Amino acid sequence: MTQTDIEKGAAAASPYVPKMARIVAADQMTETERFFRLEMEGEPLAYEPGQFVGVTVFGVGESPISICSSPTQGERIELTIRSVGLVTGALRTFEAGDRLGIRGPFGNGFDTGAMKGQDVLFVAGGLGLAPTRSLIRYVLDKREDFGKVTILAGAREPNLLLFREEIAEWVERSDADTLVTVNQPDKDWKGNVGVITRLFKQVEIDPARTCAVIVGPPVMFKFAVLEALAAGVPEHRIICSLERHMKCGVGKCGHCQIRGVYVCRDGPVFTYEQVKRLREGI
Ligand SMILES: Cc1cc2nc3c(=O)[nH]c(=O)nc-3n(C[C@H](O)[C@H](O)[C@H](O)COP(=O)(O)OP(=O)(O)OC[C@H]3O[C@@H](n4cnc5c(N)ncnc54)[C@H](O)[C@@H]3O)c2cc1C
Ligand code: FES
Repeated sequence: MTQTDIEKGAAAASPYVPKMARIVAADQMTETERFFRLEMEGEPLAYEPGQFVGVTVFGVGESPISICSSPTQGERIELTIRSVGLVTGALRTFEAGDRLGIRGPFGNGFDTGAMKGQDVLFVAGGLGLAPTRSLIRYVLDKREDFGKVTILAGAREPNLLLFREEIAEWVERSDADTLVTVNQPDKDWKGNVGVITRLFKQVEIDPARTCAVIVGPPVMFKFAVLEALAAGVPEHRIICSLERHMKCGVGKCGHCQIRGVYVCRDGPVFTYEQVKRLREGI
């Protein structure tokens, strides 16, 4: 199927056929991560924090990418894309005015209903801040629905920290505690230094009412989960987002399957209790 077929509306209702979106803003956030704000050319996308879309670069391919905006921000959707290969590499040259194909939204998203009234602890490392930002913005926009909000963000180096200006705004808020750390500071860095798990020492957690949302590279996830467990947060209230290789996004092709669970459809958001079962096969 070509871009022209799609524009003619061929198979428009099929979940396999991308819809057209126009880039309204593009910004190189770091050497490898590029930010895009998109406007759908037809119906706006209805989505939940934690869901993802299939992004098509015509003639190149498709990649699953988390939506990093919140539905509370309006009809445009935002994506943060790290250039690692064919599709994501091609996107490096995309600018405002260029067009992309979008399928989805796919996946379950975060269970915001279950988090209502709870304290929410965010632990986001590196690119993990992208899917987490969707939920952070949602929670901050509906602030009265949640208890205490704590945001821990980390990056390897200051120039790799995503959403720096926005994080500075979160730090200024009196209704949320935001702490940021980098592994390797540069000469201008005045904040915390060290791995993100060190920040746990600076926060108070009430395990009886805390949901810990932990998203980041596998090694960070492992140690952050241990900290959350040590603080007494139960396994079913430790929440993460998994990445697997995906094709269809709708539970049909089996590419993303782990022990009968389709990460694209049943996830990508899982509790640590579920992740443990997937890993151990219980
Ligand atoms: C649910 C979900 C949400 C994601 N959200 C984001 C996001 O918000 N921002 C972002 O930059 N990336 C995200 N990714 C990862 C992104 O999909 C891959 O980096 C992308 O598909 C690579 O495509 P490519 O054609 O550029 O690379 P390729 O040329 O296909 O491969 C380059 C490298 O990327 C690896 N790779 C390919 N596909 C995936 C994949 N699906 N998951 C992990 N590694 C992969 C390959 O093994 C290879 O090492 C997400 C993945 C999933 C499953
Ligand atoms: S990507 Fe096809 S079943 Fe999940």
